[in-house]
Amino acid sequence: MRRGSIASLLGIGVVAGGIAAAVALALPWLPKPASNEADRVDPLFWFVIVVCIVVFAAVAAVMVYSITHFKAAADDDSDGPPIHGHTGLEIVWTIIPTLLVTAIGIYSAVVLSRNDALGANVMRVNVTAQQFAWSFSYPEAKGLTSGTLRLPKGRSIQLVLQSKDVIHSFWVPEFSQKEDTVPGIVTTLHFTPNRLGTFPVICTELCGLGHSVMRTSVIVMTPAAFDKWLASQTKAVSSPNAGVAGAAVFKNNACGACHTLTAAGATGKVGPDLDKLPAEAQAANQPLEAFVRDSIVDPNKYVAPGFHPNVMPATFGQALSKQELDALVQYLISSSKKG
Ligand code: CUA
Repeated sequence: MRRGSIASLLGIGVVAGGIAAAVALALPWLPKPASNEADRVDPLFWFVIVVCIVVFAAVAAVMVYSITHFKAAADDDSDGPPIHGHTGLEIVWTIIPTLLVTAIGIYSAVVLSRNDALGANVMRVNVTAQQFAWSFSYPEAKGLTSGTLRLPKGRSIQLVLQSKDVIHSFWVPEFSQKEDTVPGIVTTLHFTPNRLGTFPVICTELCGLGHSVMRTSVIVMTPAAFDKWLASQTKAVSSPNAGVAGAAVFKNNACGACHTLTAAGATGKVGPDLDKLPAEAQAANQPLEAFVRDSIVDPNKYVAPGFHPNVMPATFGQALSKQELDALVQYLISSSKKG
């Protein structure tokens, strides 16, 4: 091979690699990491990108060189020379990709096993997915439930995920961690949040009409603030005063996002107006308490005129502890009578 050819190949390779590197660096591919696991996944991602850029540069160099140097004349209709393999070349193009893919495989396996390893003092959170909402409950706090995931910074978290209906997938981009929820089986996901803030929880498995709105937030707090929140919520939910307990359950489960309830300062318009519960129970020909309880546990039992079935996830009612459900029912009854 002539020295000039090698110089041309190298030159084209450097230009192609430079363009690919500029594209890789210019676009914001990854969110700012917020977990120990993301801090391991991001360098792995960049390692793969670098391998891809080197392979791309080599292929582009040979391709561009061949097109420019071996072009046949416009009137040359003859066949090219018959070529039957080149053992040296074949060994090279087998060994190099084998080494690259093996390196990526080993690096990935190391990252995966480190990311899956639970740290000391793991906190478990049960996650229930249902068309189209997430619900989180804290076994450490007697099953306190919340529609928003709150976590302490720096603690090893294990999510125990279940689905009530179809396959969903739990994803927090800033944590670089993702896990499917599959009806009939229990899956788990481990991560350690290491940055304070509010990040999106996204369902990343097409699960029906409401898939795109199956989102909530994860709030990473200081351990002190988290303990305070957990204690205040546990206290509120177990308060003998149904008004206090029910109000906490109402707020934790974001009922006000869809419903209006004057007592809670909620003005949602997606579902029926909860200030009018007594009138609706009458219209459904049910005693008020039974009507309210049924409507939480089985939202499709009585669908108010002008509203659609299957909009309210039964997750809410089914994920609540008996104590939380009782408190919520009493709270709604007393609030709606005032409203
Ligand atoms: Cu649940 Cu998409």
